[in-house]
Amino acid sequence: MSYPYQIRSREAYDEAYKRSIQQPENFWADVASHFHWRRRWDKVLDWNFKEPKVEWFKGAKLNITENCLDRHLEKLGNRPAIIWEPNDPEEYHRILTYKELHNKVCQVANVLKNNGVKKGDRICIYMGMIPELAIAVLACARIGAIHSVIFGGFSAQSIADRLQDAKAEFVITCDGAFRGQKDIPLKSVIDDALVACPFVKRVIVATRTRTPVSMIKGRDVWWEDEIKKIETLGMTDCPAEEMEAEDPLFILYTSGSTGKPKGVVHSSAGYMINTNYSFVNVFQYQPGDIHFCTADIGWITGHSYIVYGPLSAGATTVLFEGVPTYPDAGRLWDIVDKYRVNILYTAPTAIRSLMGFGLGPLQNKDLSSLKVLGSVGEPINEEAWHWFDEHVGKGKCPIVDTWWQTETGSILISNLAGITPAKPSWATLPLPGVQPVLVDENGNELPAGEASGNLCIKFPWPSILRTTYGDHERCRTNYFATYENKYFTGDGALRDAEGNYRITGRVDDVLNVSGHRIGTAEVENAINMHAGVVESAVVGYPHDIKGQGIYAYVIFNGRHGDDQSLTRKDILVTVTRIIGPIAKPDKIQFVSGLPKTRSGKIMRRILRKIAEGEMENLGDTSTLLDPGVVEEIKNGHL
Ligand code: PRX
Repeated sequence: MSYPYQIRSREAYDEAYKRSIQQPENFWADVASHFHWRRRWDKVLDWNFKEPKVEWFKGAKLNITENCLDRHLEKLGNRPAIIWEPNDPEEYHRILTYKELHNKVCQVANVLKNNGVKKGDRICIYMGMIPELAIAVLACARIGAIHSVIFGGFSAQSIADRLQDAKAEFVITCDGAFRGQKDIPLKSVIDDALVACPFVKRVIVATRTRTPVSMIKGRDVWWEDEIKKIETLGMTDCPAEEMEAEDPLFILYTSGSTGKPKGVVHSSAGYMINTNYSFVNVFQYQPGDIHFCTADIGWITGHSYIVYGPLSAGATTVLFEGVPTYPDAGRLWDIVDKYRVNILYTAPTAIRSLMGFGLGPLQNKDLSSLKVLGSVGEPINEEAWHWFDEHVGKGKCPIVDTWWQTETGSILISNLAGITPAKPSWATLPLPGVQPVLVDENGNELPAGEASGNLCIKFPWPSILRTTYGDHERCRTNYFATYENKYFTGDGALRDAEGNYRITGRVDDVLNVSGHRIGTAEVENAINMHAGVVESAVVGYPHDIKGQGIYAYVIFNGRHGDDQSLTRKDILVTVTRIIGPIAKPDKIQFVSGLPKTRSGKIMRRILRKIAEGEMENLGDTSTLLDPGVVEEIKNGHL
């Protein structure tokens, strides 16, 4: 495959950027012309951010799996599409060539059809990081079913919420998942979730851990048995369903500042083009490169840069089941060494955690295959950046600091490896087609040049979210109502005189814990579910490894009130049950009251400062209902 739209020099970037702004439709139509369409589009772009309505390539017909699989078969059929590295390094790895992956996707797509799945149906996928997860995702896309992958760390309650919101009648899961030393009983979690979801008609269970599971008659079937069935029926190929450009491809739930997580909806054509374009340009992918993204497919990074981006480009993508510290902190380097990885894309939290183990785990690991390093999910601090550069990249690999979100679908701001300059802890320049602006709190756009403000994007890019599932108004109010005619990211940013951006973090009540997005309101709701909790307030505080930690202030008058450590544990169990272990507070401080204004609003600014250990300069506390409570909270700071 060749990528005529790959930018190979700084001048070419400037030129592409300029054209993408002056003639966005021609620019994206040219990129799109290198994909496989059943029918070309009538109109490249139709949009307004008021409703909002964004339509790219209207009238076109395609199937993303024909672009990720079929179109590669002739020339790249025997090239590895997926290299799967199991949790246990002693277990044998698996390689699926493009031909094999195509066959398996067709098989499973037929299994889905045979189980009554139709175009437009929602399918929830709750699996560990095994090839069957990628196969399930692609099988859904093959027949036009809308996948909604749920990260394996979410609780039964969270799954039930998502299943209900998406009205998903089908679930694909595994008996269990291996992650480090843990064996997570996925099917049993699904069983708990389904108590609240009687509308689920079918659960397909793949075998991985051989954990005992209960299979409910009439509802649950084994993945392997279903494949045998369609083999007996002689169903081998599965022609791809013809999809409209704007047909939804998937839903992915993500946290916001209020309420329950929302289902971000991505479309077929725009998402495909933008993930491919950014993959090829940001990482400067060259044919034959081995790409290793350490994210989980349960998050957007895995969707875009383990599955769709690399596969649509005909690349080899590494899918790793385990965690960077198992069986020891050299695991990522072993994988790089073993498969001669060329592109390594990971998160600052992983880098910081590995830094803590010193240089020992890097010894005797051959990292010479590495050409490009990438960072995503949260601001990367300079110390981690330099460690990554020096000890992993050996000073010869460009680092791309890629800024984007679940809602943006693909990378929007990043340097292009070796093409545009890196600047430690700066995401740097927008990709072609992306028009970022900084605005002040009144919504005034700040003039070009050095500035600090809230980051918005003022023109649609192809992989922008189209709606939040089942509630378009929520999409409008969340992203398009804060500033007129702009998509608001929720992030604050700095800009230098050259137009580089540095993302400073969320300006709303969303936390970023180890690169995972968690809403403070969600955690508070979970804590408040615990009997005896009167009220709680949750804020973030700087955490050496996680980036942000969760600090909870809790008013409690229930049982065990005098045994605080037991109450703390009870609260942690409650949060784990309601959301999942990723949302567990790192610190819980019991308080008798919260700092509130006379109108009853919690002054989080004060709580944030105290959580950060900053006891002075708490600002004006005179508007508080009871200023005395602040002293008490300060004295009890953990
Ligand atoms: O605050 C930004 C941060 O992660 C948020 C998006 O989280 P999520 O939707 O889970 O997607 C994460 C993976 C794309 C953003 O609003 N973020 C993401 N990348 C960066 C970042 N912050 C700073 N630098 C980045 N490179």
